[in-house]
This record gives sequence, structure tokens and C-alpha cells, in this order.
Amino acid sequence: MAANAPRKILVTSALPYANAPLHLGHMLEQIQTDIWVRFQKSRGHDCLYVCADDAHGTAIMLAAEKQGITPEAHIERIKADHERDSAGFLVDFSNYHSTHSEENRQWSEEIYRRLKANGHISTREITQAYDPEKNLFLADRFIKGTCPRCKTPDQYGDNCEACGATYTPAELIDPKSAISGATPVDKESTHFFFRLPAFEDMLRNWLADDSLQPQVANKLREWLDAGLQEWDISRDAPYFGFEIPDEPGKYFYVWLDAPIGYIASFQNYCARTGHEFDEYLRPGTETELYHFIGKDIINFHGLFWPAMLDSAGLRTPTGVFAHGFLTVNGTKMSKSRGTFINARTYLEHLDPEYLRYYYAAKLGSSVDDMDLNLEDFVQRVNSDVVGKVVNIASRCAGFLRKGFDNRLAADCSEADLVGEFIGAGDAIADLFEAREYNKAVREIVTLADRANQYIDQRKPWVLAKEAGKELEVHAVCSVGINLFRVLMTYLKPVLPAMAEKAETFLNTSLDWTALDAPLLGHQLADFQPLMTRVDPKQVEAMIEAGKEAAPAAPVPQAPAAEKGASKAKADAGKDAAPDTIQFDDFAKVDLRVARIVAADHVEGADKLLQLSLDLGDCGTRQVFAGIKSAYQPEQLVGRLTVVVANLAPRKMRFGVSEGMVLAAGPGGEEIFLLQPDEGAVPGMQVK
Ligand code: 2FM
Ligand code: ZN
Repeated sequence: MAANAPRKILVTSALPYANAPLHLGHMLEQIQTDIWVRFQKSRGHDCLYVCADDAHGTAIMLAAEKQGITPEAHIERIKADHERDSAGFLVDFSNYHSTHSEENRQWSEEIYRRLKANGHISTREITQAYDPEKNLFLADRFIKGTCPRCKTPDQYGDNCEACGATYTPAELIDPKSAISGATPVDKESTHFFFRLPAFEDMLRNWLADDSLQPQVANKLREWLDAGLQEWDISRDAPYFGFEIPDEPGKYFYVWLDAPIGYIASFQNYCARTGHEFDEYLRPGTETELYHFIGKDIINFHGLFWPAMLDSAGLRTPTGVFAHGFLTVNGTKMSKSRGTFINARTYLEHLDPEYLRYYYAAKLGSSVDDMDLNLEDFVQRVNSDVVGKVVNIASRCAGFLRKGFDNRLAADCSEADLVGEFIGAGDAIADLFEAREYNKAVREIVTLADRANQYIDQRKPWVLAKEAGKELEVHAVCSVGINLFRVLMTYLKPVLPAMAEKAETFLNTSLDWTALDAPLLGHQLADFQPLMTRVDPKQVEAMIEAGKEAAPAAPVPQAPAAEKGASKAKADAGKDAAPDTIQFDDFAKVDLRVARIVAADHVEGADKLLQLSLDLGDCGTRQVFAGIKSAYQPEQLVGRLTVVVANLAPRKMRFGVSEGMVLAAGPGGEEIFLLQPDEGAVPGMQVK
């Protein structure tokens, strides 16, 4: 390949499930990807961005059934919403397809056949919970019952949200199908497996070769060291998906055909446009393939997917770029706090480029979570974009229009300064390439500060009032506009709509490849406002709208066996109040103020955080609390809370829990840890 030949790059972001609207977490990934793709194009590369809806699976089948429509009609409706919302955030897909497409069926069948021919498919009987009324095998999340440990009703089949215990559905007390309410029975069926262990060496080599993020590579190595398992790739009918060739009643598991959807979408694009296709799939190809994903799906993209591609004789990804989760105002997005913000709700209140800028200003290349702090959001956009970047142009444009008919000076009076701005481009490009957008933005804002300082020092508004200083005004403002042009070129991948308006004003392309020398004697158009300030009221209105859109908190259900009893109470005109206890019983509970001195994730536990508590004179405690869905560990450290200090220690799968912290709320992201007023100290008794 010649040194400066354009690279041929194919980029994807994870395929959103066709069962819910996009929210700001999806937008984090799509915006991260879109910035990278726009950057590559600006640098002159042939870069394509394909995506699709992930349309298969039981959840989608049931959602359609609930609405009384076909799955096909359901996924079509959702896809249209997804495409509209992504476009609203200026995400510029080359192609947006569906995994429920003919291309994907063909590729899924083809890849499966190749895997099978290579001896990488096995079959065996497995026993699973089965809903005898719906005639459906039940995944763990479709089974509910009473927690075998703390007896809280209505818990999912694999873990208890109340006490954090983990178990198998068979251990649940009185398990029920969450779909029909029927009691599940055990049933055997034949499943198809992908022989992942055969790819251990291949995956180790792939890992060593590729420029994966260190955290991702470490995670993959951990899994490889722990030993790979065969992967169950089939589901029994009824299932919304593709039937496995020659295996009636057996369907590909949604995660088998989802990543194949990347190829299908790309093929659809190539058929539409005549773009070359085969070259992007050939092992050893010089074309590049990158997947942007969330850190929760690293196993699919770092193990199963490259192994499947390898077995099928196709190229493996050049890179897999994982990002962390989005938090809003420091916590998991929450419907009751109005911070579970759908893409549509945001767009009804705020300019998409505010969010694009804020995400870029905070996103690095690591898998760390990213916080959208709404106060900081308002402040940064207003200060950096409006107050610094736009300000450069708006300060100079008026003088150029009034005095010089919108024409820039024929010479550059500050060639060194403009040259330095252009010269900074390579380092900034390296940062974009490495997905260190936050660092790139910092460099750009520092340059914007310098440009503003230059204008402040030369004071064109003072010069304009002095006789004989016209040439100086012209020179200073022409330099200012040239500096603005360079900065907008760097920001174009982040702020494409603003850059388009700037292109009209500057009467030139803001592609990186067009940036080599200052514009001299160049004709501008009239300046138009490029971006208005964020009004905090718009943010408040969005939060309120988010609260309104959120469904009411789920009503805790009585255990199924007692439902008749609570109904009888309600019929008798009484509230279904819990049974009372005697004061002596209550007095036995030793409630104490505790300070959380450390909080950590628990390896392998989805719901639990491990807390180290300081109870003052009452010593220290280690407690496993099922609050991970609502808190990041770092938010908890230093906080006071209330703990049941005399609870008998309980041995859990991850260690011994020596108490219980108190929290309110229905569960999930809506858990609110109790916190005493200021002045309470660790060890104080709560009465
Ligand atoms: O986690 C998800 O939302 C999946 N729908 C992502 C699929 S990505 C790819 F493999 F298709
Ligand atoms: Zn429990």
C-alpha cells in the first residue's frame, strides 16, 4: 500500500435490540463511533459505518404478541424509531439494516454450515424449565418466585434483588412462569453448541496480534485461562429468528446471528451502491474492521465472534473498542429521577450537538464509565463552544462585513500563529485516531483560548474607532477567522451541523485534507449564529418530561400463594397492611449508623456490592448489599448509612455478610440507601 493511500475501513456499533427506544446510553456509543468515522472521512479515508436492529429473540416475540401484532410489524416500527433518533443525533450510518433480513439469513446459514463442516458444532440433550401452558422453554429471567434465602416474593430466577443471593431457578420457592403464571416443569431437548474450546490457541494469537484495550485483553485472557466452554447456539420453537438448516423446530440463538448482522448490513450496502464487498471478508485483507461496543458484550465480540469468523474462513476484526456505561449525575440512569433519558426526549428539548460535544469532551479510550453531569454539561457547552470557539468568529465577522465586504486580507499578518494552529493538527489527529477525544478537545479548547487572547490583545473594537487603523483591523480579524477555520476543522467530526454552517460562512470545506495554508483574500459569506447557549431550563424540562414518560413504579406483588388472602382483605375494605409485630420484636433489631469506608464490585455477582462499614465503637463489618444496580462503588465511599448490626452472619457465595444496610425502593435502579442527617456518627444507635 502506498504511504498515503486512503485506508479502507469498515466500522460498526452494537446492534440495538428491537424491543425498546434508544436512550442516551445507546447514543454514547453511536456518537463515539460516528465521531471516529467522520474523523476518518475528514482525513481522506474510505470509511463506512454500518449498523442494524437486533431483531430476534423471545423478548421481541413476546412484546409483539402483547401488542397483538406480528413480530415483523413490531420490529419494523421500532427500526423506524431507532433510525429517526440516531439521525436526530446526526449519526451518519452508511447503512442501517435488520438482522431479520434475507442477507442475514443467508450468511447465518452459510457460516453455520461452514462451522458444522469443520466439526465445530456439537449436539447434546439439556434439561430446562418449560412453561407447560405457553409451551415454551423459559430462560432464567422468565421465571419468578420467592427467594429461598430471605423469602422476598417475586424475584427473578437467578438472583434476589432484596438480599443479593444467587441461585438456580430450581431453588426458588414456588417458581412461576413470568409469562403465563404456570408452574414450570423440567423438560429435555437437544441443543446445538459451538465448540469454542477448539479456538483457544487461535484466540490467544488474535489477542496477541491486535491492538485491544489493555482492560479488554486482560479480561479475555482471564476467560481463556479459566477454560472455554462450548457455547449453546440453539433455541427451541417457538422462537422469533432463523430456523437452523435441516433442523426443524430449532432456531439460531439471537446472539449467533446478531454479529453476522454486521456482514449482512454491509452486504446490503454494497448491493445498493456497488461498493466492493469480498475484499472486506478475506483473511489477510488490508481492509480494516472495527467494532465499537459496550463493555457488557466483550465476551461475544472478543471470543465467540472471532472464533466463528476464523472457523468460517473469514477475516477477524482489526479491533474491538469497548466503552464503559453511562451514568447521569453520578448514578445509574433512573426513571424516577427522570435521568433515564430517551433519545427522543432529549431531542425534544435540546440540540443534539450539545450532547455530542459533551460526550467528546469526556470520552477517552478506556472502558471506564462516563458520567453525564447535567450542570457540568450546561457549563461546558456554554463556556467552550459558545463562549470560546463561536466567540472567535462572532468577534471578527462584524468588522469584516462592515469594513471589508466580507473579504479576508490578502496577506497573513500572523503566519506563525496560524501555522502553529495548523501544525497542531497531527497531534490532534493522533488523539482522535486513538479515541482519546477528551484529550483532543482539551487541545482544541486550549487553542481557542489562545485565539481569544490574540484578539483580546489586538482589540479590533478599539482599533476600529481610531483613524488610519483599518488595515490593522482587517489583519487582526482575518487572522481570527483563519484561526476559527482551523479549530472548526478539528471539531467537524464532533459538531457536523455547526461545521456545515461554518462552511457556508467561511465559503470553504472544513475537511482536514483541505487544511494546509491560511485563507488569503478569500471571500466570506455573511456570518450566521452557529450555536445558541444551553438554557438550564431546557435541561430541567427534559428531566421532568423523562419522569412523566417513566412508567409507574411496579407494585410489589404478594406471593402467589397468598394472593387470595390479600384480595380478601382488600375486598373487606382494609388496606393490605403487613402483619404487625410486637415492640419487643422490634427492639431486638440493633440498628446502627455506619460509615461506608470502602465499596467494591464483586467478581461474578450482577447485583452485589461489597461494603466495608465502620460502626465506631461497635467495630467494623463486611456486608454484601444488592444495590449495584443503583450505585457505583465510588459514590458510596465516605457516606453514612444505617445497618442492622446484630444480624447473624450469613455465608454467601462470595463471602460472609455481617449485617444488612437499609434502603428503600422497588429495586433495580430505584434503590435509595438510607442516610442519617448530618451530625450522626458511626456506631450511634438508631431508635
Ligand atoms: O447488547 C445488545 O444490545 C445487543 N443487541 C448487541 C448486539 S451487537 C452485535 F453483536 F450484533
Ligand atoms: Zn433474598
